[in-house]
Amino acid sequence: MLILGIESSCDETAAALLEEGVRIRANIIASQIDLHRKYGGVVPELAAREHVMKIRPTVRQAFEEAGISYSDIDAIAVTFGPGLVGSLLVGISYAKSMAMSLDKPLVAVNHIEGHVYAAIMERLAVKDSEAQVPSLPSLALVVSGGHTSLFLVERHPSEIGFKYQLIGRTRDDAAGEAYDKVAKLLGLGYPGGPIIDRLSQFGNPKAVAFTKTKITDRSLDFSFSGIKTAALRYVQKNNIQPLDPKVHHDEEDVPPKVRDIAASFQRTVVGILVRSLERAIAIYHPQAILLSGGVAANSELREAVQRFCDQQGLDAFIPPRHLTTDNAAMIAAAGYDHWRRKEFADLTLNADASLQLARKGA
Ligand code: KG4
Ligand code: ZN
Repeated sequence: MLILGIESSCDETAAALLEEGVRIRANIIASQIDLHRKYGGVVPELAAREHVMKIRPTVRQAFEEAGISYSDIDAIAVTFGPGLVGSLLVGISYAKSMAMSLDKPLVAVNHIEGHVYAAIMERLAVKDSEAQVPSLPSLALVVSGGHTSLFLVERHPSEIGFKYQLIGRTRDDAAGEAYDKVAKLLGLGYPGGPIIDRLSQFGNPKAVAFTKTKITDRSLDFSFSGIKTAALRYVQKNNIQPLDPKVHHDEEDVPPKVRDIAASFQRTVVGILVRSLERAIAIYHPQAILLSGGVAANSELREAVQRFCDQQGLDAFIPPRHLTTDNAAMIAAAGYDHWRRKEFADLTLNADASLQLARKGA
């Protein structure tokens, strides 16, 4: 069984081909980071226009790399939300026209569910037939530029794939968004996550005391806007001048105080995320933790979650770095289970910019 995945929800145009829903035959990502860098963030109109230019060559490259012809595929999975509506529509229209001309089923995939599959797909590919991967219930922590959500993952009633319950989410900024905003404030360039991650190794994580926003109702929700504001206040109080965001900065040309902010900010964000996992396992007693989303590329978060799982006797599913940020392999992997459940979309499929994976308590 061969499934084509198409992803265009934000600023990556991506196409992937998967065999039996897990074995990656091709995984092509055309990134727009260079285009948006000079604006310090994604510009929706530019993103949509760039997707229009890139979608056809990206899909074609996936087929070429896999050595497969278009007519060999059995289904097409496409992200239909959440994301930027103009960007989503490019992928959806392309997927629809392929489905129609090739007469293949179309599968609509939630981008967040794609991230969850990114955490498990490597292990699914090597599982022995008896093992349930992952053991359920599990917790899935999806941390990206647009989302920070914690889900309880259980078996889908059909016994194929999963059902999700939202048990925690950010009340303001997403974790990746906080990374990007703090980096912008310091003039470190875009996207901020990888830069702050690298600089953190050269700073003192205890130098700046960021007070964590307290969520008082004992919920598993997150809040990151307080730390961002604290970073701004620290910068103003200490008269720290922003660097030139257009220039690549090595640790040597970044002042020690800026490195300290980076390290302290990162330590605080990782602390918030791990503490929430700690509270959630006391309530839900999961077997495994699934970590995913762009921020799951973060070295300190990966180590902290692995250490936490080892201490708690939980199975940790941490995706390889190239599957943490947006890609189409994860969309195809999630789409495969929808295909197995015969959940097909028709040609009326539309983009849903604020699509949810699950509602709170549902
Ligand atoms: O999943 P993703 O590619 O796109 C969304 O669906 O949002 O995530 C992108 C986010 C950006 O905010 C970026 O700064 C962050 O992931 N990110 C990181 C790292 N690499 C990417 N954050 C922290 N540490 C990293 N190493
Ligand atoms: Zn994403």
